[in-house]
Parts: sequence; C-alpha cells; structure tokens
Amino acid sequence: MKLANKHILVAVSGGIAAYKSAEFVRALQRAGAQVRVVMTESATRFITPLTFQALSGYPVHTSDDASFDKAGVDHIALSRWSDAIIIAPATANIIAKISNGVADSFVSSLCLAHQSSLAIAPAMNQAMWNNSATQQNITTLKERGVKVFGPAQGIQACGETGEGRMLEPDDLVHHCIALFANHSLSAKKVVITAGPTVEPIDPVRFISNRSSGKMGYAIAGAALEAGAHVTVISGPTHLQENERINYVHVETAQQMYAAAKEHCIDADLFIAAAAVADYEPTNIADQKIKKKDDTLSIQLSRTPDTLKEIKLSHPSLFCIGFAAETENLIQHASEKLRQKSLNMIIANQVGLSNQGFNSDFNAVEIISSDSTISLPRARKSELARLIIKNIADQLKKEASQTNVTYLQSK
Ligand code: PMT
Repeated sequence: MKLANKHILVAVSGGIAAYKSAEFVRALQRAGAQVRVVMTESATRFITPLTFQALSGYPVHTSDDASFDKAGVDHIALSRWSDAIIIAPATANIIAKISNGVADSFVSSLCLAHQSSLAIAPAMNQAMWNNSATQQNITTLKERGVKVFGPAQGIQACGETGEGRMLEPDDLVHHCIALFANHSLSAKKVVITAGPTVEPIDPVRFISNRSSGKMGYAIAGAALEAGAHVTVISGPTHLQENERINYVHVETAQQMYAAAKEHCIDADLFIAAAAVADYEPTNIADQKIKKKDDTLSIQLSRTPDTLKEIKLSHPSLFCIGFAAETENLIQHASEKLRQKSLNMIIANQVGLSNQGFNSDFNAVEIISSDSTISLPRARKSELARLIIKNIADQLKKEASQTNVTYLQSK
C-alpha cells in the first residue's frame, strides 16, 4: 500500500480522457490512498459526478456547485485536506489557467490555493499539445515545481496520431507514488518514539497525557518516503499502521527507554516525538485502590529521560527532540536543546485548539544551534515531510563538514 494514508485530490477537467479518470481513482484507492474528486463544469459533460461520488465515497464538487456552501467545504479547506492534487485529464484550457494564476472556477481556485504537491496529466490533441502557447505554459508550471505526468504518444480520440494521450491509470499511480518518494534518507535507520506513555497506578487506573501519536506517525511516514528503514516505538494509539514500518509497542516510560536502547544501537537518526511521562507512581498497587479519605496522595518518581540517555550513550547519533510548550516556546525549547545536547529540537505550542495534541494540524519551529525555521500551521503529514527534509539537509551538511575536517587533518 504505497500510498497508505495519502490524501489525493483528483481534479477532472473536460476532455474525452475523463473516462479513464474513474479507473485512475480506483487504482489510487488500491494503492491505499484516500481519494476525493472535483470536476470542472465541462468535465461533467463527459462523465457524471455521480460516478466519482460512487467510487470515492465523497460528494463530488463541481465549479458552480451550490452544495459546497451547504457542506461547508470550500476550495481552501479541500486544498488543505490534500497531500497532492492531480489534474487528470488536464486540458490545454486548465493548463493555461493555472499557469496564469486564473481563479475563475472551483478547480482553478483550488490549484491557486494549493500548498501540497500539484501534478497534471495532460490530455489533448497533438497540435494543441505542441502549440508554443501550451509548451510555454508547461515550462512555466515546471519551473514552479508542478509535476507533469506524460502525455503519451499514440492514436488520439480525434483520429490523429502524436503526443497528447493521457497516461494510463496504472502509470499515473506510479508517478503519484514517485511524487511522495525521495531518497534523502536512503538506507538510513531511523528510530522514532511516538504517542503517550501510560503509567499504572493500580490495576485499573493510570497517568497519561493527550498525545495521539499523530505527529510521530506522520514523521515515520515521511522518513519512510525518504527511503529510511523506520522503527516506531509507540505508546498506545488508535492510529493505522504502515506495513513497511517496524512498530514496537510499549506502555510505560521505562519500556520506551528499554526499547529505544535496544533499537538505537545501530541507528543513524533518533527522533523523539513521544510525550513521555516525566514521573511514574513509585509503587503500583496490586489491587484497586479503595476510596476512603477525602484526599489521596500518590508518590511519584522520575522516569528515565529516554532522549537524554540515548544521546549520552551515543554522542555521535543525530538526535532530534520535540518540545511541547504552553508559553515561551523558543526559549524553553532552546533550553531543552542545550540540556539534552541535541542536534535539533522541534518546538510546538500546545494548549491551543485545533493544533498540537490530538489534532491533524500543527505549527512548529525547527531549532538548531545556528538557526530557527518557522513552519506555519499545516497538516502534520505536510509538516513531517518538511521536517524530514530539513533533518536530511542538516545531516548532509554535518557529513560534508566532517569530511572537510578529516581531509584537513590528513
Ligand atoms: O501525538 P500528537 O497528538 O500528534 O501530539 C504531538 C506532540 C505534541 C505530543 C509532539 O509534537 C510533541 O511535542 N512531543 C514531545 C512532547 C513532550 O513531552 O515534550 P517534553 O518537552 O516533555 O520533552 C522533550 C523531549 O524529551 C521530547 O522529545 C520527549 O519525547 C523527550 N522525553 C521527555 C521525557 C522523557 N522521560 N523521555 C523523553 O524521551
């Protein structure tokens, strides 16, 4: 399931190849993606929205669709939902619009608002494709980072032969998989902690926190996309697992520490995204504690600091911490960076609604000894890719500095 957990928005524009988009949606789903569909008005003349609604399980939005407002779905929200927008087929007309920043329909507005990856699968008559206006638009889009899938050569619907056929659905899916893949952490072993820890008080009660594991699991997905071998040491979560990631399930801070010690021995990178309990009950009652007095005191003892201990025992291991703060974000996070001798710390403000703990969204500051990079509020999956890119860049920089020092000392 190479597209597991990916949100892909298929935008269908008005060409005869629109009939292939139905199979494309199915092929994306078979690869594990969640798919939603939007259509231009002219696309609805080639294939009905109902077909895509039945396939995707979501309402299909068209340019002048009044149901948008009713459903509370606007082009910004849908654009933010997506990890990638694929226009398939992309006619000469929609290509011209998006290369010129036109926002006169739902689909073109959505493309203008995109922050995720944008790709087009052109489909048109060969003369239209070869026209210098179209070619110029394609060049502009490529320069802006838009990916162009195809087109293929062959006999066209109009009877002519040449370049301009939309790629077949399975080929498009391969391009989509490649869209998410990069090799910046190729063959690196990455160990990530995620989720909460749960510290038992007695057989029925425990101390825990609000972490859902979403941030850690998103980081794991992004590391996997970047070519890493990924182990996630996970506290209890309700999240879907990726079959290509090795999960080690733990409950307590002590167990998380033991698992990290075992798995970090040969790791290249350790990322601690878990919200670990700093204290655990000193004694766990064998039986359920009965209520007697008006107050009850439970003595707590410090848990091992997994991140700090791992860095101490593996000083050359590139270690990244997370800092969840409710105030003085940068200052507190920078203190943790120093105290734990980390290579980097990702600071996130918690206590806000709809970001941080147990949300699909977050906003972070990536802090290292010489820089701070702000990543504004976005989906955790999107932030995770940017964080991994940043880590990979930093690793590369440090490796080249080590090389220079080594060569100078020879
Ligand atoms: O799981 P989500 O709902 O998606 O929420 C994500 C998150 C807010 C939990 C995550 O982004 C985050 O900030 N995780 C770290 C939270 C935290 O407990 O930070 P801290 O400031 O207490 O700890 C600093 C660092 O030391 C963290 O990397 C933590 O994993 C690590 N630590 C802390 C204590 C301990 N005993 N062992 C540790 O390894």
